[in-house]
Amino acid sequence: MPNIAFPKEENTAEKRCSLLPINVKAYKSMGAEVLVEAGLGNHLFISDEEYKAHGATIVENRTELLNKADLVLTLHRLPKRDLPHLANESPILISFLDPFNEYQYVGELCDLGITGISMEMIPRISRCQKMDALSSQASLAGYVMVMKAVNHLQGVLPMMMTPSGTLKPAKVFVIGAGVAGLQAIATAKRLGASVTAFDTRSVVAEQVQSLGAKFLEIDLGETGETQQGYAQALTPAQLEKQQKEQAKCIIESDIVITTAQLFGRKPPLLIDADVVSQMKPGSVIVDMAAQNGGNVAGSEGGKTVEKNGVTIIGTGDWAAGVAIHASQMYANNLFNLVSEFWDKERNLFDININDEIQSGCVITHQKEVVNKTIKEYYASFDQLNKTAGAA
Ligand code: NAI
Repeated sequence: MPNIAFPKEENTAEKRCSLLPINVKAYKSMGAEVLVEAGLGNHLFISDEEYKAHGATIVENRTELLNKADLVLTLHRLPKRDLPHLANESPILISFLDPFNEYQYVGELCDLGITGISMEMIPRISRCQKMDALSSQASLAGYVMVMKAVNHLQGVLPMMMTPSGTLKPAKVFVIGAGVAGLQAIATAKRLGASVTAFDTRSVVAEQVQSLGAKFLEIDLGETGETQQGYAQALTPAQLEKQQKEQAKCIIESDIVITTAQLFGRKPPLLIDADVVSQMKPGSVIVDMAAQNGGNVAGSEGGKTVEKNGVTIIGTGDWAAGVAIHASQMYANNLFNLVSEFWDKERNLFDININDEIQSGCVITHQKEVVNKTIKEYYASFDQLNKTAGAA
């Protein structure tokens, strides 16, 4: 029977995990054995006994767990020191791998003959929605960012008409109305705020308005999106125009939430220090991209800072703030991926890199980088290094 192993996350601050007891039965009914590292769900108040009661085998020793694994399913990639312990023939590792930035790690997967499947590279097609962990986690992030902002605001979001006076609704501005941004808009609306949003993809305007928020119109000319639905990078002139035309809305807002990302690239800087300095003291900015370079000047990845009385939250790991639901969604995403490719007759995860899903998310296989996007990205990188070396 093939063994599917669930090791603990290396980062002890990570509250999410890749398996809930309810998923064990589903894996077992495919014909797999479920091995759980002791303590996997302790921080979520899920005991080893609970996993065991659902049919999992608890393994105390991590090396032993990895030695036996045919498939390893985690949230963050396994630390490098764990990789040599994947001793079975053709082991498969599925997790967030960050392949654009983890060149050496991907090289190690190749050297060790580990098939690496990257959850962030699951294609954005309808067949994949149930496995789309970027979206499931981003949606929760949208909710959490509003909660964090509210915790720092010294006021309420809804309008209140009371005998003691009328309170105006708080103004919330959301920049980037993708998965996280739309959830942030919906959450702030539900709490009664007056919400405005902007995105470079004009198709989003209707979605923003359908949530009861205003869409800030900025004419940037041709912007567009990739085939996968991601935004194209703006030209420097377009970016300057956006920064100028959104400044008034930012300065008047009590809460600004920035979620603008460019897939595989550094996020754009959208709010400069001058605009931050013009915001009212007491207002709050949440920069979703702070850990990857940031949309906001002065935001710091992993931290909450204050500039002239404006709180800038860049703590990141947003979905981890609602770890039980984030784990439920992530564990379902993993199971939906594994079950999609489970070959019942051969009782294994069937690697077929010509399949449209696998061609997007399988990064390494049979000691090679097989993913076209990543291969091309690394080649451009190598070329750049060669050119720099020759100069
Ligand atoms: P993302 O995380 O890459 O970016 C977030 C948002 O930032 C995007 O809406 C993008 O347009 C926006 N953005 C980029 N530069 C900006 C700028 N300078 N100013 C303002 N906004 C800026 O994207 P996300 O949220 O993961 O998805 C974007 C879209 O992809 C979704 O709205 C949806 O249409 C599509 N999608 C499709 C899926 C599927 O079919 N399976 C799954 C998930 C998303």
